[in-house]
Amino acid sequence: MPPTSVPPPAVPPVAVPPTPAVRLDRVSKRYAAGQDTYAVREVELDIAQGEFFSLLGPSGCGKTTLLRMIGGFTDPTGGSVLLDGQDVTGLPPDQRNVNTVFQSYALFEHLSLADNVAFGLKRKGVPRAEIRTRVADMLDLVQLAHLAGRRPATLSGGQKQRVALARALVNRPQVLLLDEPLAALDLKLRRHMQVELKQIQREIGITFVFVTHDQDEALTMSDRIAVMNDGRVEQCGTPEDVYERPATTFTASFMGTSNLVPGTYRDGRVTLDDGPELPVGHRASVPDGSRVNLSIRPEKIWLSDLEPGMARAAGIVRETVYSGPTTTYLIELAPGVTVSVLEQNTDRSRMEDRWSGGERVEIGWKPEHCLVLD
Ligand SMILES: Nc1ncnc2c1ncn2[C@@H]1O[C@H](COP(=O)(O)OP(=O)(O)OP(=O)(O)O)[C@@H](O)[C@H]1O
Ligand SMILES: [Mg+2]
Repeated sequence: MPPTSVPPPAVPPVAVPPTPAVRLDRVSKRYAAGQDTYAVREVELDIAQGEFFSLLGPSGCGKTTLLRMIGGFTDPTGGSVLLDGQDVTGLPPDQRNVNTVFQSYALFEHLSLADNVAFGLKRKGVPRAEIRTRVADMLDLVQLAHLAGRRPATLSGGQKQRVALARALVNRPQVLLLDEPLAALDLKLRRHMQVELKQIQREIGITFVFVTHDQDEALTMSDRIAVMNDGRVEQCGTPEDVYERPATTFTASFMGTSNLVPGTYRDGRVTLDDGPELPVGHRASVPDGSRVNLSIRPEKIWLSDLEPGMARAAGIVRETVYSGPTTTYLIELAPGVTVSVLEQNTDRSRMEDRWSGGERVEIGWKPEHCLVLD
């Protein structure tokens, strides 16, 4: 029998993760040398190609500083910035394939809309005919073609914002940085522009890094959100991750309304200070005896028709606040411990007719909706 040759073992194909559009590798910024206060502290983030990524956090938490470091307007004091796999730390803005839309539109008042949009291309020496088609395409995209000859002073806020966007996008940047671009608009226009901006981003497929301090805006627009606090990223995930599964008390309270009830955790229950024990409904990942905050979203607490398997607590109705489609009930669980409960005002669930205050009620929640936060 001839010796049989043993085939080499099959090598499983190695999945090569795609290069992120933006990689922040332990990026820090201290404005005053030697000082201990960091505007941004060791931020590590990968932003994927084509992603709508938001930096969200309260005023002063470092959003603009981080964005400026991606754009090259501010140099980090530590760490590096990579764009499409290339280390660009220290490179000036014009050597990065990135454009920025600032909060103040910074349009050239003496130029028409079309010339505003064409400005960057002219400076780069792009041929005239190409400029004409690219500007026309871009004005179509932001639905301003009919106003191409107008001056910025004659436009509304939302229209100016769209010119600023067109002016940045016409350069075909790999990444577009937007610093609170909708902040100057009134609420209705803002909602409208949110939808438009998201549509435009989907259509052109450019990576957006979007700064906002408005949670609703971040939740409705983003593929992923980095929640920032005091120069750090507290949590990074999909809108659902950060809203439904906040990892910290800060994220839970910053992302919309949450009931945060302080107490001590032991064996699946949290004992409130000077108050009753509340069942969590599941074992938390903190050691017994830990000081914790119990976090439950107002819309996740039930006031009627409780189901078997729900965690339950007794309380007293202290206030009923009607606000159109919803009503908020403030329920006192113990002296000084009140939770709010949000109910949709469907025919079935309108209880304000029944409750004016002072009634004893039983509230309930599904175990998975009650988080124990350190
Ligand atoms: N040029 C600067 N020199 C010194 N300190 C600065 C400078 N720019 C920002 N800071 C400080 O760095 C911190 C972060 O500021 P940054 O502008 O990044 O915050 P932000 O999250 O964008 O806030 P906002 O929502 O108010 O725009 C703040 O404490 C701010 O005072
Ligand atoms: Mg800012």
